Amino acid sequence: MSNDIQMSGAPRVEVRVNGRAVSVPVGTVAAAAIAMAGVTAFRSSVRGQPRGPICGMGICMECRATVNGQPLRRTCLMVCEQGMEINTEVTASIASAVAA
Ligand code: FES
Repeated sequence: MSNDIQMSGAPRVEVRVNGRAVSVPVGTVAAAAIAMAGVTAFRSSVRGQPRGPICGMGICMECRATVNGQPLRRTCLMVCEQGMEINTEVTASIASAVAA
């Protein structure tokens, strides 16, 4: 049985990533929900460079984003909950550079 079939009936929750609704299977971490929303740059470095998850286990701090109004949350460690609001912290200039 493929993963697609196993996941098709899985319970889901809906979160919002930068205002965009994203439906994810229960148990999905926020970092994965951000990626599923098509966002690859989670935040900007102090020099304005785009940053995204590296370790996936709470060590590198590169996945930080604002979750439910709380800044600098490590999204790789947070399981999505229904109605969770996730906002990445990439500046508009970085976002346009990443999109190009
Ligand atoms: S991806 Fe490294 S702390 Fe989250």
